[in-house]
Amino acid sequence: MSRLSQRPDRPIVGETHPHESAVGHVTGSALYTDDLDRRLVGVLHAYPVQSTQAHAKILKVGIDGAYRVPGVVRVITASDIPGVNDQGAKRDEPMLPVDEIMFYGQPVVWVLGEDLEAAKAGAAAVEVDYEPLDSLITLQDAIAAQSFHGIQPVIDKGDSQAAIRDAAQVFEGEFEFSGQEHFYLETQNSLAMVDEIGQVMIHSSTQHPTETQDIVSHILGIPAHRVTVQVLRMGGAFGGKEMQSHGYAAVAALGALLTGRPVRVRLDRTVDITMTGKRHGFHASWKIGFDDEGKIVGLDATLTADGGWSLDLSEPVLTRALCHIDNAYWIPNIRVHGRVAKCHKTSQTAFRGFGGPQGMLVMEDILGRVAPQLGMSARELRRRNFYVQGQDTPYYQPVRHPERMEAAWQQLLDGAEIERREAEIARFNGSHEHAKRALALTPVKFGISFNLTAFNQAGALVLVYKDGSVLVNHGGTEMGQGLHTKILQVAATTLGVPLDSVRIAPTRTDKVPNTSATAASSGSDLNGGAVKDACEQIRERLAEVAAVKLGVPAHEIRFIRGTVSSLSGRESIGWNELVHAAYFQRVQLSAAGFYRTEGLHWDLDIMKGEPFKYFAYGAAASEVEVSRFDGSYTLRRVDVVHDVGDSLSPLIDLGQIEGGFVQGTGWLTLEDLRWDTSDRPTRGRLATQSASTYKIPSLSEMPEVFNVSLLDKAHEEGAVYGSKAVGEPPLMLSLSVREALRQAIAGFAEPGTSVCLASPATPEAVFWAVQAAREHSALISGRSS
Ligand code: MTE
Ligand code: MOS
Repeated sequence: MSRLSQRPDRPIVGETHPHESAVGHVTGSALYTDDLDRRLVGVLHAYPVQSTQAHAKILKVGIDGAYRVPGVVRVITASDIPGVNDQGAKRDEPMLPVDEIMFYGQPVVWVLGEDLEAAKAGAAAVEVDYEPLDSLITLQDAIAAQSFHGIQPVIDKGDSQAAIRDAAQVFEGEFEFSGQEHFYLETQNSLAMVDEIGQVMIHSSTQHPTETQDIVSHILGIPAHRVTVQVLRMGGAFGGKEMQSHGYAAVAALGALLTGRPVRVRLDRTVDITMTGKRHGFHASWKIGFDDEGKIVGLDATLTADGGWSLDLSEPVLTRALCHIDNAYWIPNIRVHGRVAKCHKTSQTAFRGFGGPQGMLVMEDILGRVAPQLGMSARELRRRNFYVQGQDTPYYQPVRHPERMEAAWQQLLDGAEIERREAEIARFNGSHEHAKRALALTPVKFGISFNLTAFNQAGALVLVYKDGSVLVNHGGTEMGQGLHTKILQVAATTLGVPLDSVRIAPTRTDKVPNTSATAASSGSDLNGGAVKDACEQIRERLAEVAAVKLGVPAHEIRFIRGTVSSLSGRESIGWNELVHAAYFQRVQLSAAGFYRTEGLHWDLDIMKGEPFKYFAYGAAASEVEVSRFDGSYTLRRVDVVHDVGDSLSPLIDLGQIEGGFVQGTGWLTLEDLRWDTSDRPTRGRLATQSASTYKIPSLSEMPEVFNVSLLDKAHEEGAVYGSKAVGEPPLMLSLSVREALRQAIAGFAEPGTSVCLASPATPEAVFWAVQAAREHSALISGRSS
């Protein structure tokens, strides 16, 4: 076993512990960025003036009115920006527009007031004159206008055209599906202040403090060492604070620089929804060939992401979508072409799964649609196409451990009593004309690591104080996913101290520099590796001290839960006592740790390489019941088997699996983003801009029965303490809900009817799919009679 993945005796990793802030979360004592200004005096509040045009030339911005509002201190315009007016990753995203409005709701200027009311009133008094320009709102319109931006990657392996030409069965189709609003409970939030020597301190709700630092520094035109970003915790992020938070931090920082006072930016829900990017909706066109046994022989597809006005993370999201269209299936010949449509909407961004869900949705939709036409159950069709040992992905990465997919599937079949329940469902459907049930299984295979190899590095700074207490700094951020809890367990395990002697400090760019976003689910892999490295350095130094004290060789010293002993256990010394002694011997009690994931390489130009350290596997079975009259449905039961390797923290992993599943189910069944596509003056306005019109899952959408189990015997060699990343993959288990709905809809039609289903599959969409399926089968039976 590798040193990284091997667990010592009596490890604290693997134990069940509640989230380190659970008590704070439920009692309300846990602080968030927006709470931090309470102890400050003279804080200014910022509020945006949002554009009322989807696409327009700015003719004039009249700010004088704002200054007549009592309490207004300053209006921030593009001309106030001392450095580069850009908040994006690709220098295509002005922080404030100079002459052109790119989406309805775009901030034009920001008003700083003594309180929020003054700032709002000031914003209302700003007058903007526009000259409206033609706008592209829908993805279809953008594609028709050939409006694209960024790269157009192509995955190309084998000869898909020839394979499809010679295939026994060929199908083709199109599919367009919606994006998703993050709806993190804590909206975008930043608080900035400038000290007496011009150092900028920013508290921000961001997944990527280093990039916030970079972007603030180039917007302000000052070096990075004058900007410090701190993240205490986030009230949810889900990818929506990977890029999107930087601009707001910059507004706060610029405001602080201009006024000398602390400035807070906190978006209210509607401002947040109308200004920030979302999960990308996609359009897919595809052609697929199968052999006589239902095995895929070739796939040809074009995926177009609805990118919005600027690139943001659209390129890497698209890349990940392309790298996940195979899901768990072997596709020997494949050509997939990707594009990012540019249109006049919010700039779409990272969202849990980062394009992976979109790629996998396309494949699961294809299989769900064609299974009836192949005369095969969708469950059988899926299993037949699983990867087996020796096969590789469309981007040429060998699929190691494909047997885990099979194992998860089998564990699910057994644990969820699939065959017995399928028979029960058939009986139910036979005796119910107006309600149908169905049970669908779908697999998940998700690649872990950032596609871009350089991002797969992390740092840590571990401090042991003279009294034996430990303070851990690492580059990852806490957004509710339990990263800090896992890191505490890793540090306590590595140092061999009790969990309660370790504390985690807020994430800060002046403690650990040049960090990657806490994203791609790799927070615990990367930061866990770095913290473990730092702890090992300290432990090795302490082992030398203990060796002398206990009179045994250093390599025989064991550190277990606060006791440092020889192998036999006969000689021992307490951790605190040892640390104290080490201090007096002038032994360094702190260490910087570093980790980089080995073995990765990736060539974006040809979409080839081994971008992923490993794959996380999972399988889900969802049972639904659909009513014919109104398309309403219930999620009766869900069973999940998910692969987290050797879990670092089982309760945290369970929460991630349940939460991811429900969030994915929301995307696929409930959450419906609607933009105004009319030619009225409100064209381009997001119509679903609050909780009343944008429905996210709540308790009533939880499955009535929800059984989650972890995949057995799943040790991941070469990952921190044998664990696997868990943040994103479970979201895609929810594809089983959509496929169950499809199968239930088919229950209202003749056997063999292929069902097309919109996404999100709202009750309304299900109703129309039932109608279409019944009409279609009326045609079939009309023909045969
Ligand atoms: N869980 C909670 N509670 N809140 C979040 O914002 N974000 C998800 C996932 N789980 C999120 C979450 C996303 S998009 C990612 S990439 C991972 O957590 C990031 O954290 P990790 O790398 O530590 O898993
Ligand atoms: Mo997650 S979408 O990688 O922040």
